[in-house]
Amino acid sequence: MSQWQELAQRYFMNTVKRLPVTLVKGEGARAWDENGREYLDFVAGWAVNSLGHCPPVVVEAIVEQAHTLIQASNQFYTIPQIHLAELLIQNSCLDKVFFCNSGAEANEGAVKLARRYGKRYRDGAYEVITTMDSFHGRTLAMVAATGQPKFQQPYVPLAAGFVNVEYNNIEAIKAATTSQTCAIMLEPLQGEGGVNLVNENYLAAVRDWCDQKGILLILDEIQTGVGRIGTLFAYEQYSVEPDMMTLAKGLASGIPIGAILAKDRASVFVPGEHGSTFGGNPVACAAGYATLKFIIDNDIAGNARRVGQYFVTRLEQLKQKFQFITEVRGCGLLIALEFSSDIGDSVVKACLDGGLLVNRVKPNALRFMPPLTIGNGEVDEALGILDKALSSIAS
Ligand SMILES: Cc1ncc(COP(=O)(O)O)c(C=O)c1O
Repeated sequence: MSQWQELAQRYFMNTVKRLPVTLVKGEGARAWDENGREYLDFVAGWAVNSLGHCPPVVVEAIVEQAHTLIQASNQFYTIPQIHLAELLIQNSCLDKVFFCNSGAEANEGAVKLARRYGKRYRDGAYEVITTMDSFHGRTLAMVAATGQPKFQQPYVPLAAGFVNVEYNNIEAIKAATTSQTCAIMLEPLQGEGGVNLVNENYLAAVRDWCDQKGILLILDEIQTGVGRIGTLFAYEQYSVEPDMMTLAKGLASGIPIGAILAKDRASVFVPGEHGSTFGGNPVACAAGYATLKFIIDNDIAGNARRVGQYFVTRLEQLKQKFQFITEVRGCGLLIALEFSSDIGDSVVKACLDGGLLVNRVKPNALRFMPPLTIGNGEVDEALGILDKALSSIAS
């Protein structure tokens, strides 16, 4: 254990089982540790570094904004916030935006907005239906929204007002809907739950059900949005428009940001009902604008789609070679590789030794979420390291 890691052990709360690597520098799809060792980074700040580490266009925007205005209260207008809002609205099906600081905070705000909608239009309805194996964040209410017992059990009693039902099962949603339901909140692809793809007609069926019942559809695109799965937003692939969408992660290249977007008719907050000190701060919004503009102008989502397809093809070849690979699944550059047994930790360790950073999303599955700017060359390089890692485990 290095000197840094010993200090961290002494001072940090015990919330994360960290890998024994201290990263000190990043550039593009590469990161370096304190000993100067280089890694190919297919974790990318947990699906955050859309344009790779320290993309010059974003660094410049941050530096310029930091020299100009770092923070102003939301009592005042600030220009970077307006620029980012306009870019998001012009490029999505939503009409209004609220900025905050993280994914969980965006989802909390979306649920508050849904409750306000329920009070105004649905006789005080407040319940939100979410799905099993979902992930919506770590705040107390989002733990109740997240349909995974391991995140819920340490914190019972859970916040009221959430019902967790089976994913990809429209009948389960219908059965759970009552006069108290104000919204359904879903991920268009469950990232943290194991890269679980949505069935082809599921989102359209949920949309129809929401329309029939007059309830809101909230899409949590915190992981799927901003190009990650091959379109700017995941909903575009399913021809379904949400009433609300939440974003965070890849929006500002690593500067903390979150956003709630809503259709006009769902945008029912009035002044004083919601807020944030740091939300929409000029530096985060300048980083967000530079990131999103680059993604749109350079069709980075298209690159994620094409390179993602190549990645999946190469992983399928690996599946032919190693019997213990049971499944390759994913969309764009959010991809999982599943094994027949719980070897995920050993594979992550062997990859680390080979110079590749990957995530173990389940005990028996890896997740790849590299920068959206990588090319086939980086995929080949990663696959070379992975192949060796799997061979070492197989032998
Ligand atoms: C789909 C989804 N929603 C919400 C969150 C929570 O975001 P944050 O960690 O920024 O609070 C995550 C984080 O992984 C996520 O993947």
